[in-house]
Amino acid sequence: MEAGGRLAALSFLLSVVFRSCVCKIDPAQIDPLLYEEQLLWVSGAQGEVNTYRIPLLSFTPKGSLLAITEGRKSTAGDVGAKFIAVRRSTDKGATWAPTTFIVDDGLQPDGLNLGAVVVDEEVGSVIVVYAICFHLYQCRPASTMMVESVDDGLSWSKPRNLSVQLGVKAFAPGPGFGIQKRYEPAKGRLVVCGHGTLEGDGVFCILSDDHGQNWYNGAALKSIPYNQKKKAKDFNPDECQPVELTDGSIVINVRNQNNYHCQCRLVVRSLDGGLSLPVEGLYFDYTLVDPVVAAGALQKDGVIYFTNPANEQHRINLTLRWSVTDGKTWDKKAVQIWAGPSGYSCITSLSSGSAEDRKYIYVIYEKGHKDYRETVSFAKIHLFGGR
Ligand SMILES: *[C@@H]1O[C@H](CO)[C@@H](O)[C@H](O)[C@H]1NC(C)=O
Ligand SMILES: *[C@@H]1O[C@H](CO)[C@@H](O)[C@H](O)[C@H]1NC(C)=O
Repeated sequence: MEAGGRLAALSFLLSVVFRSCVCKIDPAQIDPLLYEEQLLWVSGAQGEVNTYRIPLLSFTPKGSLLAITEGRKSTAGDVGAKFIAVRRSTDKGATWAPTTFIVDDGLQPDGLNLGAVVVDEEVGSVIVVYAICFHLYQCRPASTMMVESVDDGLSWSKPRNLSVQLGVKAFAPGPGFGIQKRYEPAKGRLVVCGHGTLEGDGVFCILSDDHGQNWYNGAALKSIPYNQKKKAKDFNPDECQPVELTDGSIVINVRNQNNYHCQCRLVVRSLDGGLSLPVEGLYFDYTLVDPVVAAGALQKDGVIYFTNPANEQHRINLTLRWSVTDGKTWDKKAVQIWAGPSGYSCITSLSSGSAEDRKYIYVIYEKGHKDYRETVSFAKIHLFGGR
C-alpha cells in the first residue's frame, strides 16, 4: 500500500476506534462480572463524620471518575449538619485520591442533602446540585444550591443559590446524576430531576439551556393528594434517576414511596426534553421489585442498566439488571452484587467510546454486614464476563 493509502486506512481505523457510537450490542454477549470492588468510605472511622450516605458516581469529560457522598457529622439521620465528600480516580477506579470536603454547612440543624451530579460535556464542567434546609427543621426556607468544577473535579466553586432563579420550593435533587441531552430534542440541555417534600411530593425536573448559568422549572409529576398528608398506598413518586434513550426521550425510574399499585418501581417518560411527564406514559415495572429506596440506572450503547436492593421488604440483595429493549423487558440473568444489607446506588460509565471504556460500568452503593449504612463501596463491572 502506498503511503497516502496507508494514512487513509489508519485514519479510518482511528475514527472507528475513537468515534463515540451507538453500537448495537449483541444481547447474548452481556455477561456482567464483578471485576473489582473497594470500600471508599467507612462510617464512623474518620474524625468528624458519623455516617457516609447518599453516594453519587460520575464520569468527567477528561475520563476521570468522581465519587461524591454526604458526610453526616453527628448522626446517621437525614437531618443535621453535613459535608459533601469527594474522591477522585484518574485510572478507571483502580486507585482513589484521599477524601476532600468540598462543601461544609457548618452546624446547621437541617444542613445539606445530596443531590445530583451532572456533567456538561460541551464546556467540560461538572455540577453538583443539592438542597439545604429541605426538612424545614429549625430553619426556613429550603434552598436549591449548586457548586461547579471546571478543572476535572480538582477544585470547586463557592455554593450558588439556584432558588433565586427557580423560586423558593423544597426540592431534593436525585439522588443520582442529572443528564445533558445528547440527542434532539433540546440537545445540550441539562436536566436534573428530584422530588419535593413528603406532602408536596412528586418528581420535578429543573432545566438549563446555557450550561448551568440559568435554571428554570420543567416537568412535574405530582403526588395525589398533592399538599395533603398521605395515607398508605397513596400515589407518591419520590427519589428518581433519569436516563436518556438513543431516541432522545428521557426515561425516569422512580421510587414508589407509598407502594402505590405494587412494591415495585414506577417509570415515566418525557418526549420533550424534560418539559413534561405525561401521565399516559407512566407504568409500573413489576420485574423491578423494590423496598422503597433510591436506585441506579444508566443507558450505555443502547442497553439500560439498573441497580437496587431487589427485595420487596428489606434493603438487601443489591442486584444489577440489564435491558436491551429500553426497559420493556429485563434479561433473566440478573447479577447479584451483594447479598447483604445494601441501600442507595448510582451507576456511571466512561464515555470516550474506546474499546476499553465500552467494556465497563461502575456502581457505587451503600453496603454493610449488619446495616447498609456501614460503608460506601465502589464496584467495577466487566460487561462481557471478563472476555
Ligand atoms: C436562596 O434564595 C431564596 C430566594 O431569593 C432565598 O429566599 C433564600 O433565603 C436563599 N437561601 C440562601 C441559603 O441564601
Ligand atoms: C435477590 O434478587 C434476585 C434477582 O432478582 C432474586 O431472584 C432473589 O430472590 C433475591 N433474593 C432475596 C433474598 O431477595
